Amino acid sequence: MHPDMKVELAGLALRSPLIVASGVLGSSTGLIKRVSENNSVGAVVTKTVTYNPRNGYENPTAVDLGFGFLNAMGLPNPGYLDYKNELAELRDKIEIPLIVSIGPSNSEEAAEMVKALNDVSDAFELNLSCPHTEKLGLEVGSDPEKVRSITASTRKYTSKPLFIKVSPNVTDVVEIARAAVEAGVDAITAINTLKSMAIDVNAMKPVLSNTYGGLSGRAIHPIAVRIVYELYEALEVPIVGCGGVYDWKDAIELILAGASAIQVGSAIAYSNDFKIFNDIEKGVNDYLVNKGFGSIKNIIGLAHKC
Ligand code: SIN
Repeated sequence: MHPDMKVELAGLALRSPLIVASGVLGSSTGLIKRVSENNSVGAVVTKTVTYNPRNGYENPTAVDLGFGFLNAMGLPNPGYLDYKNELAELRDKIEIPLIVSIGPSNSEEAAEMVKALNDVSDAFELNLSCPHTEKLGLEVGSDPEKVRSITASTRKYTSKPLFIKVSPNVTDVVEIARAAVEAGVDAITAINTLKSMAIDVNAMKPVLSNTYGGLSGRAIHPIAVRIVYELYEALEVPIVGCGGVYDWKDAIELILAGASAIQVGSAIAYSNDFKIFNDIEKGVNDYLVNKGFGSIKNIIGLAHKC
C-alpha cells in the first residue's frame, strides 16, 4: 500500500506536503528551478520581496550555532517591480506552485505589490514576522490591527491562495492569526524565526553586524509544535508547520499538532542536492504504512484527540 501523500492546501494541489520555506534559497531563481525538479517537493516559497529594493545588512549576516542558525540578512531583494520579471520567467519553467513571499510595511504597499505580482504567482505568503527589520515584518506583524488592514488590502487585490507567516515573538499568536483569518487569509504558516543574538567572546561584540537576528533550526522546533497546536485548537484554518524540520519525525510531530503541510528551511543547508526532501517524504510514507493510515490527511491534528 502506498499512502496518499497529496495535499490540498487552501486551493493549491500539492504532490507532496513538503514545501521549501522562504529565504533559504535566496533570490536565486536557478536554485528554485532545481529544487522544483525534486518530486518530493510540493511547492516553493520565494525569498521575501519588499516594495522598495533593499541591499540587506553588512556581513556577518548568518552564523551556525550548532543547534540552529542565527541570521539577519535584512531582507535583501531587488524590490517587487524588478523581481516581477524574474518571477515571470521562473513561473513558466516550474511545474509546482510558486508561493511569492511579500513583506509590505502597510496596506498601500500590499495592494500595489499584489496587483503587480498576481500574474506571476500561484499564491502569496505575507511575511509580517521578520524579527529585525525597521517598519517591516514583526514591527507591523505584532499589531493585530495592522495585520488586519494589510491582510484585507492584500485579499482585496488577489483571489489566489493567501498565507500569512506568523511570528513566535508575540504575546498572543492566536490573536494575530485570528485577525488575519478574519481579514481573509486562507492559511497560516507557523512559525518565523525567534529574535535572538550571539556575542563573540573573543571580539567582545555581537556576532551579527545587525546585532539582533532570527533563530531558526533545531532549537525552535518545540516552539513551532506548540504554536501549531495552539492555532489548531483555536482556529479553523489550514496551518503550514515550519520550524526546525530536519527529519520525518519532526514533520510528523507538526502534522499531529495540526499542520496540513510542512515547510523545510534551515536543514536544507546540511543536505546534498535537496535530498532531505526525499528522506523526509520516505520517512513520513513509512510511518503511515506502519501505522496503517492510507493518507497523510488522516493524521492531521490527531494529537488533539488523545
Ligand atoms: C532576513 O532576510 O533577514 C530574514 C527574513 C525573515 O526572517 O523573514
